[in-house]
Amino acid sequence: MTSEISDFTFYNPVKIVFGQNKIEQLSKHIPSDKKVLILYGGGSVKRFGTLDRVKKTLADYETGEFGGIEANPTFGTCMKAVDKINEEDYDYLLAVGGGSVIDGVKFIAAAAEFDGDPIDIFGKGVGTGKKVTSALPFGTILTLPATGSEMNETSVISFPEKKAKVSFSSWDVFPQFSILEPELTYTLPKRQLANGITDSFIHILEQYLTYPVGGMVQDEFAEGLLRILIKIGPDVVDEMNHDYNLRANFMWTATLALNRLLSRGVPGDWSTHALGHEITVLNHTDHARSLSAIMPAVMMVRKLKKWDKLVQYAENVWGITNGSEEEKIDAAILKTVIFFKSIDMPVNLSQVDVKEEDINTLVGQLEKHGNDAISERGDQTLDVSREIYRQAL
Ligand code: NZQ
Ligand code: ZN
Repeated sequence: MTSEISDFTFYNPVKIVFGQNKIEQLSKHIPSDKKVLILYGGGSVKRFGTLDRVKKTLADYETGEFGGIEANPTFGTCMKAVDKINEEDYDYLLAVGGGSVIDGVKFIAAAAEFDGDPIDIFGKGVGTGKKVTSALPFGTILTLPATGSEMNETSVISFPEKKAKVSFSSWDVFPQFSILEPELTYTLPKRQLANGITDSFIHILEQYLTYPVGGMVQDEFAEGLLRILIKIGPDVVDEMNHDYNLRANFMWTATLALNRLLSRGVPGDWSTHALGHEITVLNHTDHARSLSAIMPAVMMVRKLKKWDKLVQYAENVWGITNGSEEEKIDAAILKTVIFFKSIDMPVNLSQVDVKEEDINTLVGQLEKHGNDAISERGDQTLDVSREIYRQAL
């Protein structure tokens, strides 16, 4: 196990257009000769007027619409959009929504150009995991800060009939641009605001809470972003508080949390996401709620493995300076739990309707999806994951 910063390539071509009234500038970002398919979710963008703004701005373009991309987007729904693209010849996509719509559009963009059966874009027991080599160009308008999908190259798609939720990544599915208007968050209900704070918080933790390799830039960035979320989280989840700077800081933090800046050259541990995805597959728990229910147990069960970073987390993020190393770690875990509770997030499995008898199914699903050697050292076996699920009950 190296204790040095490993070699890395950082590549992120996404143009971020941040601020007020940026939708009205869409034509600056989409070439005028493009036939644009506008894709969205279950209807929030219609209800709150965002779609009207988009259509008005693109009045001189040839456009079409595809709505109904569900939270935790499914392969089946996305393939309907691919059929529409093939039948009507769109050559530019515009995602208007949260992580689910953006992830769906990434897959749709790749599937529309894929040589072969698009299911093979996915590995992990779903398809053959063939490399994506091209995709339709697309931009995004973000309506829910949470996943970071607006500035990364990953997409997570659900296969309900296969009981699977699987990701793929490709440089071909970076958005060309993403519009971030903090005011679009004003219509979010408390539950989604809390989900956004939590998902971002856990993305940062999964790139930080491993073992130290002296990545000062990565560590300081991560600690700073965590401190911001702790500071603003309780105010952000007050859905009536439409303070512009508050929401702007929230939005930018969520994007930076998973645009790969934090993870370059340092170890990562995506086990909370792996264990959480199986909960969502089991009973449709919101993505972020599956994570906050698991993360405290990961910290407890993997305490010895993550010891040094947990101490650093306690000191630099929570400002805990008194006591032995173990006392600092325990205090930091407790503070993390109290933080999640303060924004009404679940902190154990019973709060997301998972029972002891479900654990065998969850572990079986982890095995089926090839997640039998996860975490920063690849030593989180299925038995360790079982222990984490048990501890989280
Ligand atoms: O579908 P509509 O009607 O638009 O409503 C959505 C949806 O019900 C609503 N919403 C979105 N913006 C709104 C709004 N309601 C009011 N006002 C607005 N401005 O919020 C609900 C949830 O939306 P969704 O897009 O599902 O949430 P989120 O952004 O949390 O995305 C979750 C998905 O992203 C994946 C998750 O697994 C999950 O499938 N992730 C993607 C990642 C990536 N690409 O890098 C990383 C993440 O870890 C995550 O796995
Ligand atoms: Zn996430």
